[in-house]
Amino acid sequence: MNPNVAPLFAPLTFRSGVQLQNRLVMAPMTNFSSQEDGQVTEAEVAYYARRSDGVGMVITACANVTANGKGFPGEIGAERDALVPSLRQLAQAIQAQGAKAVLQIFHGGRLCPPALVDGDVVSASAVPSDRPNSAVPRELSDTEVQEIVMAFGEATRRAIEAGFDGVEIHGANGYLIQQFFSPHSNRRSDLWGGDVQGRMAFPLAVVDAVQQAVRTHASRPFLVGYRFSPEEPETPGISMPDTLALLDALAAKALDYLHVSLLDYRSLPHTGNTSRPRLETLLAHLDGRTPLIGVGSVWTADDALAVLDAGAALVALGRSLIVEPDWAQKVARGEEATLRRELNADEQAQLVVPDPLWQAILKTPGWFPVAERR
Ligand SMILES: Cc1cc2nc3c(=O)[nH]c(=O)nc-3n(C[C@H](O)[C@H](O)[C@H](O)COP(=O)(O)O)c2cc1C
Repeated sequence: MNPNVAPLFAPLTFRSGVQLQNRLVMAPMTNFSSQEDGQVTEAEVAYYARRSDGVGMVITACANVTANGKGFPGEIGAERDALVPSLRQLAQAIQAQGAKAVLQIFHGGRLCPPALVDGDVVSASAVPSDRPNSAVPRELSDTEVQEIVMAFGEATRRAIEAGFDGVEIHGANGYLIQQFFSPHSNRRSDLWGGDVQGRMAFPLAVVDAVQQAVRTHASRPFLVGYRFSPEEPETPGISMPDTLALLDALAAKALDYLHVSLLDYRSLPHTGNTSRPRLETLLAHLDGRTPLIGVGSVWTADDALAVLDAGAALVALGRSLIVEPDWAQKVARGEEATLRRELNADEQAQLVVPDPLWQAILKTPGWFPVAERR
């Protein structure tokens, strides 16, 4: 192995005892490819298997924990016991290639398309997203909030029964957990809202329910991670100081890891200290209390090494693993010069990407540089 890249291939043992063979993680990416009832498809399982033999851990696309939390067509379901065999198929396909399998669990909240949730779009408060054509959500009652908290625990139990190595709580990218933390979407005056501490109540209750499920049901090491978005563009919106306060609360929870959601690991904040990259600010604030996964536009080995050099314990690869399923093997062999970042429209079969994800990629400018059909 090229000694310069050795840090990427050092093993890691989490607090829970789960061990990774290296520091590379497949980032969670929705692939729109499960069946309508939430069961995984063969094409989806093949896509994960193809990307699970070089990285230490694969975090799946987000899976909904309640029926009214389904955020995308073709989403993986984790909301009913009948889905455990489907989840088991996914976990085993990932683990058979050597990676640990982590199920990302979420509720879409106000970003759920009405057609997927019988028109009953819910959130912390009745405030629509600023995104175009957003539905006005219904404010959840206190009882419903508690039911969703319990549903995160139940989804965790199903992940354990299915043989996953852990769950990642999806508190990022504008979905329900973030909606409770955000002053844009949470205008409540009860126990689930108010100042920054009050807005943390729901995220922290979810963490407690998930950790309780692990204590009750897991008979072997099972990790719990938490993903967050450090800032929101809206006013009011989550600011860097808000996020640092959330990190203090999360660091006290003895999670296995935190996972920032960034499109570029070099990005600068627009609140707080705006001259220091977000990743560095977060790492300095955490000060080693909990390992952090860095992410965002990691295309080259130097990018990945820069994320670890900044102090992150792990580095997640999203789009680069779609276009280069053998990213880790190529970097380990010193073949980085052959790493690609451009997709050709005729390479779907070769890259083992299911149709719905492939179509989404081709239709979404900006996700990838896509070459013209030859
Ligand atoms: C097609 C696609 C689907 C995604 N779905 C999810 C998801 O389900 N959960 C999540 O936390 N992030 C999701 N993301 C964000 C990625 O995890 C990652 O943070 C982002 O793509 C930046 O990393 P990259 O530059 O390595 O791709 C998605 C990104 C893409 C491109």
